[in-house]
Amino acid sequence: MLLDHLDDQQLLFFGGKGGVGKTTCAAATALSCAQRGERVLLISTDPAHNLGHLFEHSIGDDGHSLSETLDVIEIDAARTTAAHLKQVEATMRRLSPPRLHKEIERHVQLAAHAPGTHEAAILERIAQLVDVHRTTHDRIVVDTAPSGHTARLLALPELMSAWTDGLLRRRDTADRLSAAARGLSAKDAAVAAASPLEQRNQELRHILHERRELFARLRDLLSDAHRCAFILVLTAEALPVAETIEFHHELTCHQGLRVPALVVNRRSPVDQGEFLARRHEVEEQHLATLREALPDVPLVQIPLLEHDIVGTEQLHDFARHTAGER
Ligand SMILES: Nc1ncnc2c1ncn2[C@@H]1O[C@H](COP(=O)(O)OP(=O)(O)OP(=O)(O)O)[C@@H](O)[C@H]1O
Ligand SMILES: [Mg+2]
Repeated sequence: MLLDHLDDQQLLFFGGKGGVGKTTCAAATALSCAQRGERVLLISTDPAHNLGHLFEHSIGDDGHSLSETLDVIEIDAARTTAAHLKQVEATMRRLSPPRLHKEIERHVQLAAHAPGTHEAAILERIAQLVDVHRTTHDRIVVDTAPSGHTARLLALPELMSAWTDGLLRRRDTADRLSAAARGLSAKDAAVAAASPLEQRNQELRHILHERRELFARLRDLLSDAHRCAFILVLTAEALPVAETIEFHHELTCHQGLRVPALVVNRRSPVDQGEFLARRHEVEEQHLATLREALPDVPLVQIPLLEHDIVGTEQLHDFARHTAGER
């Protein structure tokens, strides 16, 4: 069982190439954990959501409780980005003089289409969801979009923290310089501190600081092997194998994440005719490459099933099919 390779890490990510079975594995794992009494939150970050289809229930960004122990949320990327930008604009307007408001509006409109905005908004939503639900849920399972996207997403906390730090440093230097330029005495400084300008500065610093702390907490959680794990899902074919080796390297060496197991999905049967038996042989060759590159990572293999997996009954069945041998 895949669960045998997991400890009680609170945050579980499922990633891998397009169409290999990430959503099915994430949902089956969430369901198994919920069934054994854990309080579970399953989050989908993939814009092409299909958790709703899988659980045969409409879910959406506000989330839905499928049972007493299983909650599901599909992050709506467009809504998240719009809400994120609206919040940024409101904050900037509140903190700047009215003559700049038109300019701010223009900047925010441009930002809506800038590369990275979308990912930053999704990351902020994940960070907030994790922050809120880490105290209410035993497990948070995240079904991610195909690999490239996810690697960038995980590199973001670092980037966003660095960016916020830079802004805070610039603010501090500017404040010190302007106090010095004005030759403020301690008494003058006390009066200046109560001025509307200084209050706005304080508020801005507070907002930046909170954001920094939010991303720092997510980063801490991501890089703690006892609290976070990343499961890579693949099929036993040349390209998914090559990409998994690269992705594993990126996650473990560059991001400091732990990958406790790989799920090899859709294994062809050996006893259903010659064609599939030959395919099984070819798959074995690809898995040999995988085992050689990553000798210490356990493989959990799942057979190719006759049908698509839809509904809790079939998800249970899917979870039962996982076997832990290498
Ligand atoms: N072992 C299996 N046997 C048969 N069908 C499977 C198996 N695993 C997954 N499927 C089916 O394959 C399809 C793709 O699976 P899934 O949606 O989980 O992949 P994904 O990696 O999340 O895809 P995407 O990258 O598009 O998000 C689904 O229809 C699912 O029911
Ligand atoms: Mg998916």
